[in-house]
Amino acid sequence: MAILITGASAGFGAAMSRAFAAAGYDVIGAARREDKLQELAGELGARFRPLVMDMGKTESIAAALQSLPEDVEIDCLINNAGLALGLDSADKADFADWETMIQTNIVGLTFLTRRILPQMVARKAGYIINIGSIAGTYPYPGGNVYGATKAYVRQFSLNLRADLAGTGVRVSNIEPGLCGGTEFSNVRFKGDDERAAKLYENVQFIRPEDIADTALWLYQRPAHMNVNSIEIMPVAQSFGALPVTREAALPAVAEHGFEEKSTSLFSKIKSWFK
Ligand SMILES: NC(=O)c1ccc[n+]([C@@H]2O[C@H](COP(=O)([O-])OP(=O)(O)OC[C@H]3O[C@@H](n4cnc5c(N)ncnc54)[C@H](OP(=O)(O)O)[C@@H]3O)[C@@H](O)[C@H]2O)c1
Repeated sequence: MAILITGASAGFGAAMSRAFAAAGYDVIGAARREDKLQELAGELGARFRPLVMDMGKTESIAAALQSLPEDVEIDCLINNAGLALGLDSADKADFADWETMIQTNIVGLTFLTRRILPQMVARKAGYIINIGSIAGTYPYPGGNVYGATKAYVRQFSLNLRADLAGTGVRVSNIEPGLCGGTEFSNVRFKGDDERAAKLYENVQFIRPEDIADTALWLYQRPAHMNVNSIEIMPVAQSFGALPVTREAALPAVAEHGFEEKSTSLFSKIKSWFK
């Protein structure tokens, strides 16, 4: 039995590989950068098997799975590989970035899951742990397609639960907020490391080890227990008000016939906008 972790060459994936290997599980760590995977293999020894795989290309995923020995059974698939690219508004964003995010975060994740599920269903056991994001629930400016891909991951996770009822296969979606100590923002800002570093200045962010602990905790829950989703933010991160774009609104108020009823306070406010 093995744990297949995508995006194992950095960030959450590397931390989860360390945590699962330390807990005594065999880990298959997948990513594009073989050198990073080999480094991790050097650190973790026989418990860690590197698997070079491009989640942006279904043929690469298929070939990588094909290269595994036939007797390897995946008891847990951790769909962690993913990325955000850019923070431009939807009218200015690079469409190629959108395609890369959709291809990696949605198509690759879905294809791999589809390939792994039959063996889990046949065994009547197994676990799919997806790494979503709070961006899949809470919109923010510039989050456009990234957030949408993570909303897909959230709904896909829930729909998998519906399909897998009665099979014993569990599904969870981990939805992290601001997490530092990964390459996430360096990738998002395309190598502008200074801009990436600024995001984490003077903030006690979540660490990759926190996400790894969570994934391991989920995996070790009893077989009858399914955590559907788990949303994790640093204490330092919270919610803001929904912004309202104000126009020169008061004449419109008059048009709606409220002017006659205006109080002296209302008149005063109105005078501010004149
Ligand atoms: N950090 C955060 O604040 C945060 C918050 C919420 C959710 N998340 C999510 O958590 C997951 C991991 O993020 P992270 O912070 O650990 O980022 P990271 O440090 O940049 O790691 C991303 C991992 O994904 C792999 N990856 C990216 N594109 C790939 C591709 N086409 N094929 C195969 N592997 C690919 C990378 O490996 P290679 O480059 O070697 O291929 C790397 O190992 C992502 O899904 C991200 O959206 C992160």
